[in-house]
Amino acid sequence: MTENTKAFDSWLRTRFVEINSELEKLYWQQDDKANVEGVGEHLKHQLEQEGNEHIRALLAEGNTDEGFDNAFDLLGNVGLFMAACRRHEITEPSRETTSPLVDASALAMHIGASIGVTPRFATAHLTTHNKAVDGLYKRFTNLEDEKVFVDYNTKGILAYKRAADALLKIQPLGISHPIAADLLAVAKHALLDVIESNNALYNKLDTDRFFYCVRPYYKPYRVGKEVYRGANAGDFAGINVIDMLLGLCFANEPSYSQMLVDKFLYMMPEDQQILRESMRMTSIMDDFLAAETERDSEWLQTNLKLFIQVCKLHGDTAIGHHNQLVSKYIAQPSQKMQQQHMDKVTASGPPLHVLLNSLEQLRDRRAAAKRDDIRTRYDDLTKLKQWIK
Ligand code: HEM
Repeated sequence: MTENTKAFDSWLRTRFVEINSELEKLYWQQDDKANVEGVGEHLKHQLEQEGNEHIRALLAEGNTDEGFDNAFDLLGNVGLFMAACRRHEITEPSRETTSPLVDASALAMHIGASIGVTPRFATAHLTTHNKAVDGLYKRFTNLEDEKVFVDYNTKGILAYKRAADALLKIQPLGISHPIAADLLAVAKHALLDVIESNNALYNKLDTDRFFYCVRPYYKPYRVGKEVYRGANAGDFAGINVIDMLLGLCFANEPSYSQMLVDKFLYMMPEDQQILRESMRMTSIMDDFLAAETERDSEWLQTNLKLFIQVCKLHGDTAIGHHNQLVSKYIAQPSQKMQQQHMDKVTASGPPLHVLLNSLEQLRDRRAAAKRDDIRTRYDDLTKLKQWIK
């Protein structure tokens, strides 16, 4: 880490958090909590000025080749600054055609392109790759609800990754291998952990605090002339590795492959590699269906039972995400939000009903629900369940 990088990191962990938290306090006191216009202008000015000062020094220094980890970390720091500017509407993508944060954009594009990721902050920066110093990891504000949100996102992501790792290890062993049962059991417990963690989040996170003070930092923003969509907890390979290895989703189906294509650069390069490989693998479900002649064997009975449980749990995680988290924290508060801000809920992203519809389709694929309009594994899973004695 260079001196400039260190100074910027320490500003982000202190002043940046203080200014954002002060601004959140001011917005929160209003009847219309979604309004940011004309509020705390001197604080916004300080944020922009202090951040830009650090960034100018870093840009002048150039992308000194300090290795991937440092470059990725610095990109995250620039991204947190740009995301905060967008949250406070110091920048606003629909108002501009190119980001007014010229230096920050240049630095972000330089780093992003050189390490093969989008030039914005991604989920990994706040969750799995967010270094804590004295127990405190990087955050936008000092609000407890932000911490709760990030803590449980991190827990959920790590648990999904454990499930994905276990399923990937079945590939070279084959479904009849005795150790495949151990790996399916690991996946099962990991998915139970996702459910437990998502339930805890659902019980602990305050709806209004999340909607008005946390989520706005995750909006799309412009880097240079391009708008980059907001970060979401799904930007890691594991979730899709599970989808495809279980056989619940298909890499050759247009809407699913579109989602994969769109998310590649929002993931860490190592995740991009894993996702590419898993797109070329056959699914465990297809392997079981092809083993029909062995349906009465002991190995198949044991392993298939576990496989069906894993599929059920993966579906349950998706049902919980959609019916609890998305519904409580996005769909319901959006409905009651003042009409004047409605455009901004979906600004630069898809309209809310389009987003909800695509998440609903994902939920139903993962749950192998019976649907006539999209391909799900309802029939195949029903058939496999009938093999169990
Ligand atoms: C995606 C909401 C927490 C996993 C999304 C999207 C929304 C959303 C709206 C779609 C983003 C887009 O396409 O633009 C929420 C809310 C949460 C929450 C309101 C909590 C308050 C979590 C947690 C996990 C998670 C804890 C677990 C790791 C995912 C995944 C995706 C996603 C995997 C990508 C789409 C998919 O493959 O399902 N979330 N989420 N989310 N979220 Fe969450």
